Amino acid sequence: MDEAQRILVVDDEPGPREALRIILDPQYQVVTATDGPEALRVIHDTPPDLVFLDVRMPGMDGLEVLKAVKDVDSRIEAIIMTGYASLETVRGALAYGASEYLIKPFSEDEVDEAVKKALARRAERMGEHQQIQTLLEDLRGLAVQNSLLRERLAHSEKLSALGEMAAGIAHNLNNILAAIMGRAQLLVHGPADAETLQRGVATIQRAVEDGATMVQRIQRFARGGLASEFRATDLNQLVQETVEATQLIWKDQPLQEGGTIEVVMELGALPPVRSRPAELREVLINLILNAVDAMPAGGTLTVRTLVRGGVACIEIADTGIGMTEEVKRRAFTPFFTTKGAKGTGLGLSISHALIRDQHGEIELQSEPGKGTTFVITLPLQ
Ligand SMILES: Nc1ncnc2c1ncn2[C@@H]1O[C@H](COP(=O)(O)OP(=O)(O)OP(=O)(O)O)[C@@H](O)[C@H]1O
Ligand SMILES: [Mg+2]
Repeated sequence: MDEAQRILVVDDEPGPREALRIILDPQYQVVTATDGPEALRVIHDTPPDLVFLDVRMPGMDGLEVLKAVKDVDSRIEAIIMTGYASLETVRGALAYGASEYLIKPFSEDEVDEAVKKALARRAERMGEHQQIQTLLEDLRGLAVQNSLLRERLAHSEKLSALGEMAAGIAHNLNNILAAIMGRAQLLVHGPADAETLQRGVATIQRAVEDGATMVQRIQRFARGGLASEFRATDLNQLVQETVEATQLIWKDQPLQEGGTIEVVMELGALPPVRSRPAELREVLINLILNAVDAMPAGGTLTVRTLVRGGVACIEIADTGIGMTEEVKRRAFTPFFTTKGAKGTGLGLSISHALIRDQHGEIELQSEPGKGTTFVITLPLQ
């Protein structure tokens, strides 16, 4: 050790106090105090390695001082001195963390031995403390690294979502342009009877409309569109109207693989919900059309409303093809679709944005071959 270790001797009697100073002085840096308060001031200003404490002192007794010392720094070692050996005092001293115990009058050898033991104990504790300190520093370093990694991951996820979005736009635009180009070329080179001409122009028109719709949806996604006002909404009424409206779209069309879709409505008692009705309707339409797409051979579409955990829930469940883990993970990504040219892959990402905008959540449960359930939650009015 570079510097001599510091020992504080606290005793109201000058005899033992000075005796200890003489025994310890050449080897250690010795400071003395005559009572508890003075001892605590010294400890505060220049913390010692070891304290000698007389038990019987006026005002604060040795055990009280010991407790206060350990409160300041539990690594300061203490040797208790007393004129009589009472079991109770020994117990108290040990309970408060004293390391040695001396009975007055003590010999120089006894003092030497007690000091050596106490200081060895302190060295051990400081070592442990140092180890813990090092561990803590390592942990802190790891935490910083972890948060940096996370930031980088989030950044790369954002980049890949952007990339996916750009690829989706390119893909859709390409399909539209190919349709227009194909027809235009036919019209330029082929025979131009009135009917062919009309059909060609109609195809081009449809492709342009598709393009316009796509652009609108992208703008919508970028929150460029105007949102309707928040209103106290009767969810059951809104759900019912929307299901009826969408039924017009798919009910009379034969399903791809035959069969029929049965609609089951389970509408619970609901207080009014704070929502933007037009946007909510759009979300429901997206989910219902997805459900219909997922049941090419027919099945059951269940629409449920209920209050759970203080929020309103709308559940849209189908008994269709379900989603793989990969599809589940990417379902809400803009332009992710498994429907080829038939889907733009924007339905769910737009729905997600619209629901978040209404302070709600949208989640899904799905199992391949079993079906999918979307759960929308919205705050009550
Ligand atoms: N109910 C469902 N069952 C199974 N898969 C679904 C369901 N809903 C969505 N998906 C999957 O999630 C993908 C993304 O859905 P999303 O509604 O965003 O796009 P889309 O339906 O493909 O196209 P769009 O809605 O833009 O016409 C779908 O292509 C499909 O693979
Ligand atoms: Mg969809």
